[in-house]
Amino acid sequence: MSEFVTVAEIKDLEPGQGKVVEVKGRAIALFNIGGTFYALDNTCLHMGGPVGEGYVEGNMVTCPWHGWQYNVETGETEFEPDQKLQTFEVKVEGEEVKIKL
Ligand code: FES
Repeated sequence: MSEFVTVAEIKDLEPGQGKVVEVKGRAIALFNIGGTFYALDNTCLHMGGPVGEGYVEGNMVTCPWHGWQYNVETGETEFEPDQKLQTFEVKVEGEEVKIKL
């Protein structure tokens, strides 16, 4: 059954930043876009690069390995229109950022 798991505190991520968090052995890319948090699969659809370590601009993140770009809110990329990164529900409770797995 899905449950919310605490993965970070609000202060860990400034707006416009991303980071990789481990949840139940799975790498998740967590982003703060203008104060709203988003979570998606960290594994790039191209060759498995760490999306959470990518450069963030607006609501787009660029994979650090070869530059594929993803919409942080939807997981979509124009480089692979038929696929997208899995996204996860995020909620903030107090100072804690939680995602649903
Ligand atoms: S692994 Fe992400 S762009 Fe190549």
